[in-house]
Amino acid sequence: MNPVGILGMGYYLPEKVLTNTDLEKMVETSDEWIRTRTGISERRIAAPHEQTSDLAVAAARQALAQAKLTPQQIDLILVATMTPDMPCPATSCIVQAKLGAPQAAATDVSAACSGFLYGLVMGSQFVRTGAYRHVLVIGAEILSRVVDWTDRSTCVLFGDGAGAVVLGQTKQGEILSTYLGSDGTKADLLKVPAGGVQAPATHQTVDARDHFLKMSGAEVFKSAVRAMADAGLKAIALAGIKPEQVACVVPHQANIRIIDAVMERAGIPREKVYLNVSRYGNMSAASTVVAFCEAVKEQRVKPGDYALLVAFGAGLTWGSCVIRW
Ligand code: UT7
Repeated sequence: MNPVGILGMGYYLPEKVLTNTDLEKMVETSDEWIRTRTGISERRIAAPHEQTSDLAVAAARQALAQAKLTPQQIDLILVATMTPDMPCPATSCIVQAKLGAPQAAATDVSAACSGFLYGLVMGSQFVRTGAYRHVLVIGAEILSRVVDWTDRSTCVLFGDGAGAVVLGQTKQGEILSTYLGSDGTKADLLKVPAGGVQAPATHQTVDARDHFLKMSGAEVFKSAVRAMADAGLKAIALAGIKPEQVACVVPHQANIRIIDAVMERAGIPREKVYLNVSRYGNMSAASTVVAFCEAVKEQRVKPGDYALLVAFGAGLTWGSCVIRW
């Protein structure tokens, strides 16, 4: 088996910033409630002309430049998203066309907020076996178009963005261990009820606002803490290291209180966690990868360091990995 690691990475955030104060004018909420309950101060919102594929392409171009590769050298594109450009075809195919990577295979990964880690695990298998040389894994979302802007319990939480990595045969940024899990018995806790075959679009589904995201926040919160702490410790054990050897934990950025509880449960000091939830909110599949890009850029992860990535989302799904930078 080949070693697999990160040859390049990049991210893109839309320019428009929506602050908690802006939200106070849209729904009955307050900056104080949002900050104390979630840790979020502001989030980015995609421009009307931007699609999820555009955010993905912008992040991918940076990752390719850092990897010193052209789009033509990519063998496989995996786009993790729960906000595809359209239900069919896959957003990855649109990304392939926009990037100009004609020889790449392309498909989407559907694991909500854990999607980037699922994509990373899937993509890394092709590199490990030698089936593909270069795999582009992207987490990209425009959540602002699927949240219900009249529902204060969800609309304040989410934001838009994208992050990408290029995987290849290298010991640089090597993926040492991975772990994935899911629990479909809790699928109802976080979902977009309509728009699939169970409830195709009708006037009734639109009137019921069933094409928007619905979440049982408190239940998701509890499951997230348990699953992320457990997944994090599993990836650490599989990497053959001890929790104290981890230099930086990069968790899915949904809520500061979830992250604090995960760190406490896993017994890892809070100073080791990288946070950007205050600036971007929950960007679902883009969250973990954007946070990892920033952690590296800000030298919170240095050469030789062990970084733990851990995510949780609808499905329910979760995943983790240990990377030696
Ligand atoms: O990405 C992975 C999936 N997502 C997550 O991991 C998110 C998981 N859940 C959470 O982060 C939290 O559950 C929330 C932030 C969504 C909610 O926090 P909470 O402490 O669980 O609050 P709650 O849902 O129990 O609501 C408490 C109160 C309610 O009022 P009453 O019924 O106590 O009078 C809500 O109506 O807060 C009210 N509330 C708000 N008030 C002001 C809910 N949203 C808001 C709001 N502004 N935006």
